[in-house]
Amino acid sequence: MRAAGLIVAAGRGERLGGTVPKQYLPVGGRTILHRSLAALLALDELEAIAVVIHPDDRARYAAAVAGLDDPRLLAPVIGGADRAASVRAGLEALAPVAPERILIHDAARPFLPRAVGEAVLAALESAPAAFPALPVVDALWRAEAGHAAAHVPREALWRAQTPQGFRFDAILAAHRAHPGAALDDVAVARAAGLAIRVVPGDEANFKITTPDDLARAEGLASGAKGRPMDIRTGNGFDVHAFGPGEAVTLCGVRLPFDRGLVGHSDADVGMHALTDAILGALAEGDIGRWFPPSDPQWKGAASEIFLKAAADRAAERGFALTHCDVTLICEAPKIGPHAAAMRAEIARICGIEPERVSVKATTSERLGFTGRGEGIAAIATATLVKS
Ligand code: CTP
Ligand code: MG
Repeated sequence: MRAAGLIVAAGRGERLGGTVPKQYLPVGGRTILHRSLAALLALDELEAIAVVIHPDDRARYAAAVAGLDDPRLLAPVIGGADRAASVRAGLEALAPVAPERILIHDAARPFLPRAVGEAVLAALESAPAAFPALPVVDALWRAEAGHAAAHVPREALWRAQTPQGFRFDAILAAHRAHPGAALDDVAVARAAGLAIRVVPGDEANFKITTPDDLARAEGLASGAKGRPMDIRTGNGFDVHAFGPGEAVTLCGVRLPFDRGLVGHSDADVGMHALTDAILGALAEGDIGRWFPPSDPQWKGAASEIFLKAAADRAAERGFALTHCDVTLICEAPKIGPHAAAMRAEIARICGIEPERVSVKATTSERLGFTGRGEGIAAIATATLVKS
């Protein structure tokens, strides 16, 4: 066999605390172990994978891997009192399948990028051992009694990750010859005199150790995959009849005309339709519910107030108005020459770029009430995206 994988998952997660060992906790709806195991299974070169577990965790393990019916996954192996003992148990269990190379990975690193595993395997073509690591970027100080005592040069320091990879026979012999606990498998390999190559690690491949790490993992997992994007589309429709007057206000722009529009507020039919579209996308009723015509305070009100309230409500709910499209339906007045000003006005009120606002117009070919010049109709569509 060319290569195998080993996941050590027999720890108790004492630094994280809680009653369930950390590798069996869910992040973004899947257990940490399920994620780290799936990351190793994604490496096609690995022909067999063993997981080392604690004897108390048999039922948890069975639940965690249910549905992962990959024939490369071997029966679980029972681990030991420290990590080195767990690795040793795993290596002994894999010895009969005689892999040439082995990747040993912490169950507590659920976000292993495929490229990191591949880099370790590739390094093993020309080295007996390799591990992923990241350079230290912070200044390092040794502290004594709470005070900085000595500066530690960071240039030669690396933060080790897993999977650590080895020629199988070499690491098995090294573990058999290494009694007791070890920092990691690099330490065991070093004790046996193996040359160990460093390959680039990845910040995503961090080990979940503390409650802060778990919160970070939850954020990453839910941001990446757990929560589907919330994109909503709402529509609105409004009509106002012509009446006596000398101007109409459409999408916030006053157009001189030989009639006016009859309505409770300023009768801005375009802005009303758009306000309803936004409220519709939020599923929060309509303009009549928010601003009842029976309430005298809205009589003659500028429709800007309604549109702004709907846009603010969207923002409060965490939605961005990414696009809106208003169509005015009338034979006259002519809308085209004023469309740019209308777009700018809506954009200003909603606090978005004019490129995200469309205003257009159509006649109804002299048919129906708009065709007979009895009034103006408007339809609007609004798209909201949760940020
Ligand atoms: N591990 C193991 N057997 C042990 C100890 C640790 O298989 N006896 C595994 C852990 O399950 C983990 C990995 O080694 O996937 C790295 O260890 P660590 O992060 O220290 O995990 P825990 O030992 O579980 O945590 P803690 O040290 O906080 O108790
Ligand atoms: Mg530990």
